[in-house]
Amino acid sequence: MELYHGSIVFSRTTEELASYTDSYLAVDNGTVEGIYPTLPESLRGAEITELGGDVLIPAFSDLHVHAPQYPQRGLAMDELLPQWLALHTFPLEARFSDMDYARAVYDAFLDDLVEHGTLHAVVFGTIHTEATGYLLERMEARGLDAYVGKVNMDCDSPASLLETTAGSLRATEDFLARYAANRFAKPILTPRFAPTCSRELLFGLGALGQKYGVGMQTHVVESLWEAAEAVRRFPDCSCDTEIYERAGLLDGGPVVAAHFIFPSEEDIRILRRHGGWAVQCPDATVSIIAGIMPTAALGDAGIPLALGSDLAAGHSAGIYSQAARAVQLSKIKSFYEPEGNRAISFARAFSMATKQSGALFGRVGSLEPGYRFDALRIGGLEDSFESLTPAEIVERFCYAGETKHIRARYLAGKELT
Ligand code: GUN
Ligand code: FE
Repeated sequence: MELYHGSIVFSRTTEELASYTDSYLAVDNGTVEGIYPTLPESLRGAEITELGGDVLIPAFSDLHVHAPQYPQRGLAMDELLPQWLALHTFPLEARFSDMDYARAVYDAFLDDLVEHGTLHAVVFGTIHTEATGYLLERMEARGLDAYVGKVNMDCDSPASLLETTAGSLRATEDFLARYAANRFAKPILTPRFAPTCSRELLFGLGALGQKYGVGMQTHVVESLWEAAEAVRRFPDCSCDTEIYERAGLLDGGPVVAAHFIFPSEEDIRILRRHGGWAVQCPDATVSIIAGIMPTAALGDAGIPLALGSDLAAGHSAGIYSQAARAVQLSKIKSFYEPEGNRAISFARAFSMATKQSGALFGRVGSLEPGYRFDALRIGGLEDSFESLTPAEIVERFCYAGETKHIRARYLAGKELT
C-alpha cells in the first residue's frame, strides 16, 4: 500500500468537482483503495508521498487524435478542412509507407502525449497496417490504454492513400485478428469519414466489427460540407450517423464520434441509442473546422462527452487546455446562438477531460476507490501573494498551465520517469 498526503481533485459527477485537502489517498496494487481525512491505524507504516502544495488529479484521456499528423502541428492553420486535407494532411499521411519515418514520428508522438499527462487515447493511424501496428504495439508495451485504428479510405482520395475495397477489408481483418487479445492497446474500426468510404466498405467493416467484437471511431457531422456530402452519397440515410448504424458499425464495441458539431435530432437519437461518445476538439474546431459543438445540449440529451486534441487540426497534445477552450467556446456559442445553447461550467469540461472520457476504457479518469491510479501531480501555479484552493489550482492549470506544471505522472500506481 502507498499513501499520498495533501490535496486531491477529481470529478464526482459531470457537474461537480470533489476536492480534498490534508487527506490521505491510499493506493493498493495500482488501484485507489480509499481517501481518508486522517491516517488510518491500519496504514501506519505505509510509505507516504508528501504532496506539499501540489494537487493530485486523474490523468487525461484524449478521445480523438491523429498520431501521423504530429509533424504538422501548428502548421497550415490558415486552411479550412477540405484544402487542409488535400494540400497538407494527405501528402503527410502518404509518407507512412516508410517504416523508418513512421517509427520516428510515433515514438515522438507518444512521448509528447505522456509529457502532456494523457495516458489513455483513441487514435487514428493511417491506411498503412504495418505503421499503425507499430503505434499500437508501442502503446501496448508502455501500458497505455488505447484504441488504435488502421484508417480505411477507398474512394475520392489521392492515389497514394487510395485502397481497393477488398484490400482495405482484408488488411483490416488481419489487423483486428493480430491485436484482438491485447491487454491495453486494442484495435478499433476507423473509416476515415463518409466522403472517402464506399457503401461496400462500410458494410464490410460492420461485419468485421460484429465478428471480432470491436467498435468504431470516425468523423461525424464535423462540418456543414461533410454532413451534406454524407447524405448526398448515402441518400437512403437521413443523417450522417445513420450510415454507420445501417452498416452495423455501432454495435461491436465503443463508438467514438469525433466533432459532432452539426448533429440533427436523428444523429443525436442514434448516437444515444448506441451509447456512443461525442468528442469535442476545441482547437481543431477553431482552426480548420470553424463550427462549435452544442456541448450543453448534447450533455442534456444524455450523450457521454469527451475531449480530443485532434492533432494536427489541433496544435497541442494538452487535453487540459482543451478543457479550458471547451468552456470558452460554449460561451461564444451561447452568445451568438442563445436558443438551445448555454455556457458549460469548468467542472463539466474537466469531467469531459477525465471521468466521462475515461469511462470508455474502464475504471480510469477518477480517483475514487476502485479506479486505477492513473494520476498527475500538478503544481507551481500559485503566486506568492495569493493562495488558491485545490480546485482553483486545477482550473488555472487548464487555462494557463504548461507541461512543466505536471510534476509527476503515475500509471497503474507506478511513477513514470
Ligand atoms: N476529416 C477527415 N479526415 C480528417 C482529419 O484528418 N482531421 C480532421 N479534423 N477531420 C477529418
Ligand atoms: Fe480528426
